[in-house]
Amino acid sequence: MSHSASQGGQPPTTPRGGKVAVIGAGFYGSTTAQRLAEYDIFDEVVLTDIIEGKPEGLALDMNQSRPVEGFETKVTGQTTGADGGGYEAIAGADIVVITAGLARKPGMSRMDLIEVNAKIVRNVVENVVKHAPEAVLIVVSNPLDEMTALAAKVSGFPSARVMGQAGMLDTARFSNFVAEKLGVPVGSVRTLTLGSHGDTMVPVPSACSVNGKPLAELLPAEEIEALVQRTRNGGGEIVALLKTGSAYYAPSAAAARMARAVAEDAGAVMPVCAWVDGQYGIDGVYLGVEAEIGSAGVRRVVERDLSEAELAALRAAAEAVRAKQADVASL
Ligand code: LAC
Repeated sequence: MSHSASQGGQPPTTPRGGKVAVIGAGFYGSTTAQRLAEYDIFDEVVLTDIIEGKPEGLALDMNQSRPVEGFETKVTGQTTGADGGGYEAIAGADIVVITAGLARKPGMSRMDLIEVNAKIVRNVVENVVKHAPEAVLIVVSNPLDEMTALAAKVSGFPSARVMGQAGMLDTARFSNFVAEKLGVPVGSVRTLTLGSHGDTMVPVPSACSVNGKPLAELLPAEEIEALVQRTRNGGGEIVALLKTGSAYYAPSAAAARMARAVAEDAGAVMPVCAWVDGQYGIDGVYLGVEAEIGSAGVRRVVERDLSEAELAALRAAAEAVRAKQADVASL
């Protein structure tokens, strides 16, 4: 990612324009909206929620931060009703980030949310399709891979226009743990995770390096494995500490960067949950892979050389999420 967020009154790197909507004004949604507004590259950020007055109040607060942070993007808050009233506020949005749904409580797996969040995501997507039929959808609701597949099915959008956020977050967590372990700046660390946002998350040690040096030369295999395991449990570790909700600073950073990549249409390559059909010998499933992102969503899935073990793990992840994605279609 070559661009940095323009804050503190610096001119934006991209001309300002377009509209992005964030559905769900919980911590994940509201921090995503704030980050998107602070990029100062959109005309408008719309934040919606079903809790009466919450998105309006948060939008007012965010707009009042504009003179301090020096951005012009307007934030609009809109309560939506059970009948879909209020969704007209997202009309014409180029990008819709779907954060709606429940977050985990301590001891829950992301999969424990599947039934309740499937109903919420289905309802949201039906309304989004009515008002923003050309939008690129970025899904972050959990369980992530399944909710992304459901959003694609319910929307009927071309698969390229529906993607999920997980790989950026998991990769960021992995990089942070490596940087802390080795006492080096996070900027010197490259890591990669593919697969699912869950138990079948696939770390890719062959793509991990510090200042260009392979990670495997800097840490023994069992220490890398311990960091991988902590990454796999990265969300759960935070849920256990917070007790009342799940992570949102790193998740919102990741989701906002994906939306920015769509807006900038520069072909940024990032790990996302995308429709994989043929790549890595995997057919027809939403899965965490690297993809080139543009204004129409996923331009292409980027295949890299994987070790045999990595490839086997990615294929196993594909089969695990395929089974769940088939279940979710009926929820
Ligand atoms: C996490 C949730 C957002 O990983 O999935 O923190």
